[in-house]
Amino acid sequence: MQKVVLAYSGGLDTSVAIKWIQEKYNMEVVTLTVDVGANDRDLNSIRERALEIGAVEALVRDVKEEFVKYFIWPALQAGAIYEGEYPMATALARPLIAWNLVQIARQEGASAVAHGCTGKGNDQVRFDISVNVLAPDLKIIAPVREWRMTRDEEIKYAHQKNIPLQDVSKKHYSVDQNLWGRSVEAGVLEDPWNEAPEDAYAWTAGPETQPNEPQYLEIDFERGIPVALDGERLDGVTLINRLNELGGKHGVGRIDHLENRLVGIKSREIYEAPGAVILHKAHNWLEDMTMTKEAARFKTKVAAEYADLVYNGLWFSPLHQDLAAFVASSQRYVTGTVRVKLFKGTVAKAGSKSPKSLYNFALATYDTGDQYNHEASTGFINIFGLSLRNQSQIQLAGSTQEQMLSLASPEEPEKQ
Ligand code: ARG
Repeated sequence: MQKVVLAYSGGLDTSVAIKWIQEKYNMEVVTLTVDVGANDRDLNSIRERALEIGAVEALVRDVKEEFVKYFIWPALQAGAIYEGEYPMATALARPLIAWNLVQIARQEGASAVAHGCTGKGNDQVRFDISVNVLAPDLKIIAPVREWRMTRDEEIKYAHQKNIPLQDVSKKHYSVDQNLWGRSVEAGVLEDPWNEAPEDAYAWTAGPETQPNEPQYLEIDFERGIPVALDGERLDGVTLINRLNELGGKHGVGRIDHLENRLVGIKSREIYEAPGAVILHKAHNWLEDMTMTKEAARFKTKVAAEYADLVYNGLWFSPLHQDLAAFVASSQRYVTGTVRVKLFKGTVAKAGSKSPKSLYNFALATYDTGDQYNHEASTGFINIFGLSLRNQSQIQLAGSTQEQMLSLASPEEPEKQ
């Protein structure tokens, strides 16, 4: 019998998928549950459930370290925030899950992999394209995209087939979470006029329960990678977990994003990403201090491209390789310490310092010690403004002050 490796979360969709694939495709199902962190799930009971439903084998893999090293840190260094709002916890985890599916498929001699994505989202694109690149010969089965059952029909199917389910009734949001953040959609959030209810949030405190005292925190970066909190060196997983906890306590990292999915749909998403929000801000503040103006401007453009390609499922692509090389190189001076203040849902800068700082007191100060050449400024302005002085003399000679004020041209184009 042929084998398929199914990415298994333990939820309704993928539980039903185990049975459905067996019946529809007559294949043996191996489940793979990938631990990308911050899971509130008991991995052991997930394993047992898979076997109980009929998986021939149920595997669990802890990939948190790889997730941080190959996905989260590079995305942080890149400043990759989709549409300026979403730090992409979900988007970043998908290619890593796909990579693990392929590894297990090879190990098990499987001819296919399967995932529980619907046909409306970005995640199917991320899985399918990643698998296509990594293992073009593997077939991809996406039961939820294929079976077209409603949620109630799924639950009925589960009862008919004796599939043990947990808490299917109380689920009114669709949630995906990992170390880098929590993504929440559906239910009352589908009306963008509805304020997200407090029960959409699980990691961050609302205004009522946030502490009344701010918390200061020092984050050390080496070449764009956070390595210590308050002077204590930490591995990435611990550092991010700790920031999620501290930030969450102060309500930092709530994001309400009406985003553009790749498949053409606008979607209202709630994200909680305290660690990601704190680290992106702190990292950016350190770049302000250590990067030249030109490098920083150019990197902003790269960041937007990078975020788009990650969001759009093109992780394993040559363009990504090229952008990643630029990003890695751009980080060689991004070493130093940022002091942040967490308070009432905000993360503010309290200070920054770096051995590679380009901030030059002697140039910046208005006090004694000023080494800036003031006379040179007039020469600079003379040249910098030359083209506009020339234009003004030739083309604005007949303008009234009124026209100048309203940016109107004295040369109204002729109306035909
Ligand atoms: N819209 C986000 C993305 O495409 C998050 C999707 C989260 N999935 C979920 N089942 N809640 O990355």
